[in-house]
Amino acid sequence: MSRIDHLLEAMTLPEKLGQLTMTACGSTVTGPTIAGDSTEAIKSGEIGNLLNLVGVENVRSMQRLAVEESRLRIPLLIGLDVVHGHRTLFPIPLGESSLFDPETWSKTAREAATEAASDGLAMTFAPMLDVSRDARWGRSAEGPGEDPYVAARLASAKVRGFQAADLSKADTIAAVAKHYCAYGAVTAGREYASVDVSERTVLEVHLPAFAAAVREGVAAVMPAFHDLAGVPMTANRAMLRGWLRDRLGFNGVIVSDYNAIAELMHHGIAADLAEAGALALKAGVDIDMMANAYRHGLPIALERGWVERADIDAAVRRVLALKERLGLFEDPYRRGAHAEPPAARQARRRLSRDVGARSLVLAKNGAVLPYAKGLRRIALIGPLGHSSADMRGPWWGAGDPVGNITVLDGLRARWPDADVRQVSGVAIESAETEGIAAALESCADADAIVLAVGEAAVMSGEAASRACLDLPGKQRQLAEAVFERAIALQKKVTVVLFCGRPLVIPWLLERADALLIAWFPGTEAGNAVADVLCGEVSPSGRTPVSWPRAVGQIPIFFSQRPSGRPAAAEDHYTSKYLDIPNEPLLPFGFGLGYGEFEIVDFSVTPDRVVESGAIEVKVEIRNVGMRSAEETVFVFTHDKIASVARPVLELRGFGKVNLAPKAHGTVSISVPARDLKFLGLELQSVWEPGELEVLVGPNADFKSLKRKTIRQI
Ligand code: NOJ
Repeated sequence: MSRIDHLLEAMTLPEKLGQLTMTACGSTVTGPTIAGDSTEAIKSGEIGNLLNLVGVENVRSMQRLAVEESRLRIPLLIGLDVVHGHRTLFPIPLGESSLFDPETWSKTAREAATEAASDGLAMTFAPMLDVSRDARWGRSAEGPGEDPYVAARLASAKVRGFQAADLSKADTIAAVAKHYCAYGAVTAGREYASVDVSERTVLEVHLPAFAAAVREGVAAVMPAFHDLAGVPMTANRAMLRGWLRDRLGFNGVIVSDYNAIAELMHHGIAADLAEAGALALKAGVDIDMMANAYRHGLPIALERGWVERADIDAAVRRVLALKERLGLFEDPYRRGAHAEPPAARQARRRLSRDVGARSLVLAKNGAVLPYAKGLRRIALIGPLGHSSADMRGPWWGAGDPVGNITVLDGLRARWPDADVRQVSGVAIESAETEGIAAALESCADADAIVLAVGEAAVMSGEAASRACLDLPGKQRQLAEAVFERAIALQKKVTVVLFCGRPLVIPWLLERADALLIAWFPGTEAGNAVADVLCGEVSPSGRTPVSWPRAVGQIPIFFSQRPSGRPAAAEDHYTSKYLDIPNEPLLPFGFGLGYGEFEIVDFSVTPDRVVESGAIEVKVEIRNVGMRSAEETVFVFTHDKIASVARPVLELRGFGKVNLAPKAHGTVSISVPARDLKFLGLELQSVWEPGELEVLVGPNADFKSLKRKTIRQI
């Protein structure tokens, strides 16, 4: 008999339910906590998993209770939201997505896992894979952006990074793909609201990233808080058992979101905790995070005949199997057994700086950047110029609020001989404008004016939906005043914009001389920004989301379906707005560098592709600028005539090349033909012969794309 069989035979019902229970400790708080001391419940085996515990000693002391003092000595599974770093923070996921570099996506996850594991942790509630096309939704910050292909590539890379090849090793942690499924489509971008999108959209847009995570061997999946067309994900049997387990073949653990099982009562599908617990268990949820619905509700549900012991045993089996896979039975103290050498921490910080710099998206550069080496006086204006805590972004894990490199720190380190004066001017969440005068004064004899504005970190992330997406507070007033003063002084202004989502800032883009979208770059933020401002790093980030011109364009994304009446300026009855263009302010994939590139030629072979084949796209590029830089190329397709209208652009691949001035290079991208299949009229996967347009370019702006037509046969 296996260890798991033995244990199942020996376990009492409360002990089994303990393995299906995850309780928060007070170290970090992400929702309502259950009051009281969990110590006794761990000893009695009634709590088998924990979250929100920080620090190796804390982790160990809890683990000891389970391993040394509980009857069956089953180790605890202890997790935390290590979303974009543990103590050393990398850019927020939306920022990191801007890299379009799966190898780096994996590397930062590997580093985050190593650091978290050295703190004794064995699980992270990441990666977050929710495709979002609605900037009002604050959780856009945590995710991959608007495109399902990018989300799927990110999913594989992150799972690989967190879990590595062998999950029993001391430097790995179990990944939790979340939030399943279509959470990014909450109504009107309002957090925790209902989602009502077609089954086709769920399957084509929101599911692929989870499918990729499952293919990569992800240990666990977390259903989202919302309901999908009336069926809360936590009780959504068709999506959990039907799609995730039966169709995608997922046999890992399904862990609920925080208190989500109890919230089935608020959703209006369960009358009490017993019914809520029964619905979740029947739907396939193994671990109850923070609702105590399994501990307290399932015994009643059993009595009422709503669940069977076999349902409980199957869930316990999966949880124990994960603990086994993590090597916890062999050695529950393996993770964190050795303190990391300081060199490992330093290397991680260097990686954070490098990735931070590469995540920045240069949206405009009117011959301002890079700055000269010999700047003597820099005016740094704005509330985000010297705000350490904000640099972390909205999910900081165990990241310290102090000690993150601010823009001020970064500029001072980069220009040690310059006089860098920092004036906030206004505070983000205050109506006070008195400080603007001092900000304007600081411009007087500056050789460079840097305006650091945007959202405070906590204005994006969970429970941070916003209906107005301009610069919050009085920052616009500050910025307008600085632009005016700069014009009078014949100086130029570089805006460094911090945000967890696209903001609606057409006026800012127009008036800034240079605009650098910084997202929230993490621990080394200010150094990353300074590396780009001084030209040490040529910006190479590309926005993974379209930036709207107005909130009224939302949801906005490049992968739209064609209209029966395509927009035409001269024709009234066409698909357009009367007041603004349809196009976004910045298209998906947009980002400038210090080089300048030209697509010289491109080829697609073969020109007739079969279902089992692949198409090879080769794009020849030349750097026609004056500096070395990296260019990103995107490959899209458009199936012009199909049984179901296909989007005007579907992303099929991306690649990068680094080129010196005047140099040529080739980006080669292979697209497996199976990716060209789509869901037919009955939502069945189909391969339809016919013409296929292949489009390449530096971003999703239709006009900038070059195209060739091949045939699917
Ligand atoms: C709620 C969030 O939705 C989820 O992403 C997170 O993992 C849990 N809280 C635990 O902190």
